[in-house]
Amino acid sequence: MTTESYQLRVADVIEETEDARSIVFEVPSELQETFAYTPGQFLTVAVPSEQTGLAARCYSLSSAPHSGRHQITVKRTVDGYASNWLVQNLKPGDTLRVLPPSGIFTPKDVDADFLLFAAGSGITPVMSIARTALEKGTGKVVLFYANENESSVIFAAQLRELAEEYADRFTVVHWLVSVQGLPSQQKLATFATYFSSYTAFVCGPGPFMKATTDALKELGFPRDRRHQEKFVSLGGNPFGDVEEVLAAQKELKEADDHEDTDDASEPAVTGPIAVEVELDGEQYSFDDWQGDKVLLEYLEEKGVDAPFSCREGQCSACACVMLEGDVRLQHNEVLDQDDLADGIRLVCQAKPVTDRIRISYNG
Ligand SMILES: Cc1cc2nc3c(=O)[nH]c(=O)nc-3n(C[C@H](O)[C@H](O)[C@H](O)COP(=O)(O)OP(=O)(O)OC[C@H]3O[C@@H](n4cnc5c(N)ncnc54)[C@H](O)[C@@H]3O)c2cc1C
Ligand code: FES
Repeated sequence: MTTESYQLRVADVIEETEDARSIVFEVPSELQETFAYTPGQFLTVAVPSEQTGLAARCYSLSSAPHSGRHQITVKRTVDGYASNWLVQNLKPGDTLRVLPPSGIFTPKDVDADFLLFAAGSGITPVMSIARTALEKGTGKVVLFYANENESSVIFAAQLRELAEEYADRFTVVHWLVSVQGLPSQQKLATFATYFSSYTAFVCGPGPFMKATTDALKELGFPRDRRHQEKFVSLGGNPFGDVEEVLAAQKELKEADDHEDTDDASEPAVTGPIAVEVELDGEQYSFDDWQGDKVLLEYLEEKGVDAPFSCREGQCSACACVMLEGDVRLQHNEVLDQDDLADGIRLVCQAKPVTDRIRISYNG
């Protein structure tokens, strides 16, 4: 069983700042449907490596879906492997293996009023959301954008143009850490308080995300108007032979878990478990999940085209909402307590807790 990936030709590489490049992919007409995306979603790319064959990394699409463009924007990470390889080596005409778009950091209603917080490369999905909201929606858009200094501001010119074109709907506030210091929770809350009825999207380094999310919580932003995207590097290889990846993950997990008393890889109930799934307008019903494998593998065996990317609990591409019953997650690096309280679960890590479950991928 092999994950379906596609070789895409690089149409253009754009120098955004000294450390950041936008990469535009050419998506042939027969793959347009497979690569259809919503603002805020990401692609997973296979970065060639002489050491490991490849390093799989997620990169958010910075283009807006209605532009017909598929553009990601990569910023070098200090001592990072894949980001430096992409920034240094990639040129138009090259090809990269890419997995189709996925992710849940995406607005349900483009006509809403948006309060966007981005820091550094966190602007990437936020840019796609801002463009879509301005060009396809009707609400107001406010962007708080933090960077080290003026020369590290990705999309500075595009943001200026958008702010001129949509002067009555779009406000950008640049925050330069070299001038103003790190934005504290208190300062972020003071800013956000003017937009307390807006829908917030937050993306950036860990401390920025925490300060912003805490500020929004302090102001009482409800969970359905507070979204966040964490940028982490995938540890595994969703491009390779899935059996091999799963075997390697299992080995790692056994090494990690040998001292755990409550082993989350074991199901809390044994099968058969009844499973109902809502996906892309289709309903599926099965009745023989034994709980010996994770829900994603079970659904794949049943022929369900369930979404996924990393298979490791690191990217949220497989996220679903529990409508009935529950599962527990073997591993989770992306969902926070609020997500879990809202019933969001990672299907690639799900083992049963109840003998009947009903899930929806429709959000
Ligand atoms: C949903 C999502 C969206 C994201 N969107 C963006 C985005 O829009 N823009 C952006 O810039 N980033 C984005 N990221 C972050 C991005 O995926 C990477 O985490 C980031 O670029 C850092 O990766 P890196 O390999 O450069 O650094 P690291 O992951 O820190 O590199 C070090 C790792 O590489 C391994 N390594 C070292 N040498 C080699 C080698 N020769 N071969 C193979 N492996 C090696 C090491 O073992 C180590 O694990 C996103 C992440 C997620 C999850
Ligand atoms: S596929 Fe990445 S978290 Fe499940």
